[in-house]
Amino acid sequence: MADIRHGITVAALALLLPCAAAAGPAGAEGADALQRLVHQDCGSCHGLQLKGGLGPELTTEALQHYDREVLVSVILNGVPDTPMPPWRPLLSQEDAARIADYLLSGEMK
Ligand code: HEC
Repeated sequence: MADIRHGITVAALALLLPCAAAAGPAGAEGADALQRLVHQDCGSCHGLQLKGGLGPELTTEALQHYDREVLVSVILNGVPDTPMPPWRPLLSQEDAARIADYLLSGEMK
């Protein structure tokens, strides 16, 4: 069962890859591109406004109980046995940290 789910997660990730690659010539490093990635790619599950969908709400209010480091690790490693994929293949540690800061503060730096 876990294997099948893993297969689905990998397939979902493969579908998302072209989107992430198309985020802009500057790559995922530009603040605009990274912000777009959060709303489009994360938003495909968490809602374009991050207010929840298949995945839970990711608003600043909803994530206040999260430690920054835990949030970075959830983004990089995903949540096993759920549709939340690991973003390590697509995002650097630095990008994941910037996304975590963005989610916690509402400001992309
Ligand atoms: C394929 C769908 C999908 C995509 C794409 C996705 N997520 Fe998730 N995410 C989920 C699901 C489902 C959960 C809930 C997992 C669980 O049951 O604990 C989740 C959980 C989370 C959580 C924990 C939230 C909480 O309240 O515990 C965070 C943080 C998160 N995702 C961030 C992100 C970020 C940032 C991205 C984009 C880089 C992203 N997710 C992309 C499906 C997705």
